[in-house]
Amino acid sequence: MTAPVWLPAPDPAEVAAALTAQFAEAHGEPPDGVWSAPGRVNLIGEHTDYNDGLCLPFALPHRTYAAVRVRDDDRFTLASRQAGMGWSGGLDSVGPGHPEGWSAYVAGVLWSLQRKGIHVPGLDIVVDGRVPLGSGLSSSAALECSVAVAVSEVAPDGSSLARRDLMAASIEAENVVAGANTGGMDQAVSLLAREGHALLLDCSDFSTRDVAWRIGALGWTLLVVDTRAPHALVDGQYAERRASTAAAARRLGVGALRAVGVDELDAALARLDDDVLRRRARHVVTEIERVRVAADALERADVDALGAAMTASHASLRDDYEVTVPELDTVVEVALAAGAVGARMTGGGFGGSAIALVRDTAYEQVAEAVHAAFVDRGFAAPQFLLATPSAPAGRTA
Ligand code: GLA
Repeated sequence: MTAPVWLPAPDPAEVAAALTAQFAEAHGEPPDGVWSAPGRVNLIGEHTDYNDGLCLPFALPHRTYAAVRVRDDDRFTLASRQAGMGWSGGLDSVGPGHPEGWSAYVAGVLWSLQRKGIHVPGLDIVVDGRVPLGSGLSSSAALECSVAVAVSEVAPDGSSLARRDLMAASIEAENVVAGANTGGMDQAVSLLAREGHALLLDCSDFSTRDVAWRIGALGWTLLVVDTRAPHALVDGQYAERRASTAAAARRLGVGALRAVGVDELDAALARLDDDVLRRRARHVVTEIERVRVAADALERADVDALGAAMTASHASLRDDYEVTVPELDTVVEVALAAGAVGARMTGGGFGGSAIALVRDTAYEQVAEAVHAAFVDRGFAAPQFLLATPSAPAGRTA
């Protein structure tokens, strides 16, 4: 049988050196610098961000890198090591739906920062995405945030931008220009994370608390499995879930489901006459409570309690929120049987990645069991990586 495929994070200095050389070859001069931003995993708190709820993500060591140089006009050129040439033009050609494809995430950030009153000079940009694409690990947020942080350092008035402004511009790029109405968790963690910590994020006001990853030193690691399951109907399904939780909140007379406490849940559910809305609301309210439990468990290094909350989260996403697929359920089932203390899907679902909390002496064995089960069940070969809480967006070279 084939062996599991691993995706280690490359060394940032090596990626930056190679990208600098490629930039110089394309533009005849080296870039002003290389900036980068991480993808993320979410430990727990799924589909809570757009309900003003809590989540507990951390930054991956896998990052997207952007080499940037200021031009002496107000034009922009964009290229990617993975995707070749992208959009070029002026910001007056950028808006909802323009440009299309991966360029939207970059052009959208520039457009949004300009709308916030920043003087964004013309730029040549070459990016190198080392966050696995289409894996539910927020490669798009990493791309947005790498460019946002670069602009904050090269624009003449960029120093007036706080991290939260960069976050808002990255979210606006994704929501308005790329047209994906996501909830903000991914951009928040890419910009606000702290190395060695998970980020307890309160999406009602994007306030944060760092929770130390003490369990790493105690011999625990987070195994990430990119299922490579085809994402079918992702955008439509995500928007539908978002709309149904907003509808549940409206019927309950609250601004967002965050306002419903877990002790009021039964009474609230009794007021919803639609079974689907009831299950969607139950997921959100119980998930927010699980984030509280999990953050507290992580703080105390209580691995059993953390793992139990993760596994309960998966069951809720599978049964009540209905965003898992057989590949995600398989990772969870097999990882738990092979010794993981907790496992769940991570990110939006409908494909993408799952995570398992495992002893650092056992992750290879768990990966082999998952790989074998995928072969057995006729799924595409998954890919594996190890996640350690890494640094937020910033300058790399
Ligand atoms: C995607 C979105 C996030 C969040 C998650 C689900 O990753 O980009 O905003 O809603 O799904 O928790």
